[in-house]
Amino acid sequence: MLSPVFQKLLGGLFVCTLSSMSYAQSPQPISMGEMFATTCFLCHGPNGQYSGGAIPPLAGYPRDLMVEQLKDFKSGKRSGTIMGRHAKGYSDQEIEAIADYLATLKP
Ligand code: HEC
Repeated sequence: MLSPVFQKLLGGLFVCTLSSMSYAQSPQPISMGEMFATTCFLCHGPNGQYSGGAIPPLAGYPRDLMVEQLKDFKSGKRSGTIMGRHAKGYSDQEIEAIADYLATLKP
């Protein structure tokens, strides 16, 4: 049989596992928009604050204009070296979530 101390330890472990599971099920700590927008920051600078190059900063970009630009890149109406390919990966709903999030960032 297990010693009482070991049983206590196991019990503690079980409680820890349970509480971390409920944490995982709690509301998402980051939004869908934020999650997808992090893929933009590689090129557009940390938190969309790139400056001084051909790639424009995204922080604080007007929401509706962003949706329009991304949809135009996606459809091919606007051409680009990178953005057409990148924008094709997102649904319209995801594009809107990205635009919502980026508009909240401080330029
Ligand atoms: C691999 C690099 C790369 C990634 C990743 C990237 N971009 Fe871009 N982005 C560019 C480049 C380069 C341009 C200039 C247009 C072109 O050549 O495609 C651009 C242009 C833009 C423009 C046009 C801005 C303007 O005012 O004309 C917008 C809007 C934009 N990107 C948004 C985004 C968003 C939103 C994401 C993430 C979902 C993203 N980009 C991810 C490289 C990138």
